[in-house]
Amino acid sequence: MMFSRYIAISFVAAALSLTATSVQAKTVIEVAHTHKETHPDHAALLAFKDYVEKHAGENYEVQIYPNNKAGTNEKVIDLVKSGAVQFMVISSSNLEPHNHKYSLFSIPYLFSTEKIYEKFITDPSVLEELGAKNEEDGFTPLSAFTAGSRSFYAKSPIKTPADLKGKTFRVQSGRANKEMIRYFDANEMTISFGEVYSALKKGLIDGAENNELALVEQKHGEFCKYYSYDHHQMIPDLLVGSTLFLYSIPESDFEIFKQAAVEAQKVEFEQWKKCIEEAKKNAEQMGVKFIKVKTDEFRKAVAPIHEHMLKTRPEIKVLYEKAKAFNEGKPEKK
Ligand code: GCU
Repeated sequence: MMFSRYIAISFVAAALSLTATSVQAKTVIEVAHTHKETHPDHAALLAFKDYVEKHAGENYEVQIYPNNKAGTNEKVIDLVKSGAVQFMVISSSNLEPHNHKYSLFSIPYLFSTEKIYEKFITDPSVLEELGAKNEEDGFTPLSAFTAGSRSFYAKSPIKTPADLKGKTFRVQSGRANKEMIRYFDANEMTISFGEVYSALKKGLIDGAENNELALVEQKHGEFCKYYSYDHHQMIPDLLVGSTLFLYSIPESDFEIFKQAAVEAQKVEFEQWKKCIEEAKKNAEQMGVKFIKVKTDEFRKAVAPIHEHMLKTRPEIKVLYEKAKAFNEGKPEKK
């Protein structure tokens, strides 16, 4: 009796110490993002975690920090660069200050259709070009998530570009975003994503621009009852890894993280359309009205931004030409 109890205790103790050692030996991977747990980006990161832990669970434990828990995108990217946070999902717009190439997507009406945009951002050569200076940048893009198309929403209806005049809109950081608002004779205020709700509440802004999910998940629909489908931009969220971290691990592990990012992208795309449809219904229940507008009127107002960006941000040229080729149905052409 005494003997078997002794053996049992030793077994448990041995098991515990084994667990402790294996837990200690695992590297904890922090993945940050700015969205709620109901957002497709979060579902994608759960798939990322699953893949990594399935293929390298003895070495890595992936912890996801949603909803700005690790800080705003603008701050977390510095942690990624220093290696303190290993991965994050971040809007391409927020990467512009770190590498001008990422400003490409902020150019309004860069793509003729959402389908073409989706083809473009899932083309591996696009990520390769974006990440060509990943050592200098400190982050490496591993996959792109759609994030749909962006349109204006406000406290009063926007039916034509003239309705934007004189109003103040929140924008993401980045030159083209600001310019776009100025071309519409409106005022821009750069505010980090998580702080838009309180800016609307305080009356600092008349509206914002985003995909439909922001109305519901970020509750912007509580204040903005009009969403106008002008589809002015398509800006992907990028899953980026810390270059410092990725270069510190064995190549075979790097491959696992890369593949996990591809799996994540599949899930995000699968979830996106369904989530948008649900968001529209929920927004309507909040009292939001969806307005169809003549997109051409909006497109014309901001058309000069293309030339201006090409002149002032020559780094975007290769990808701009590629996007043009995709629009013309010649994706293989550079
Ligand atoms: C989208 C995008 C976010 C981004 C946000 C914004 O919702 O998915 O990554 O931060 O727009 O406008 O800031």
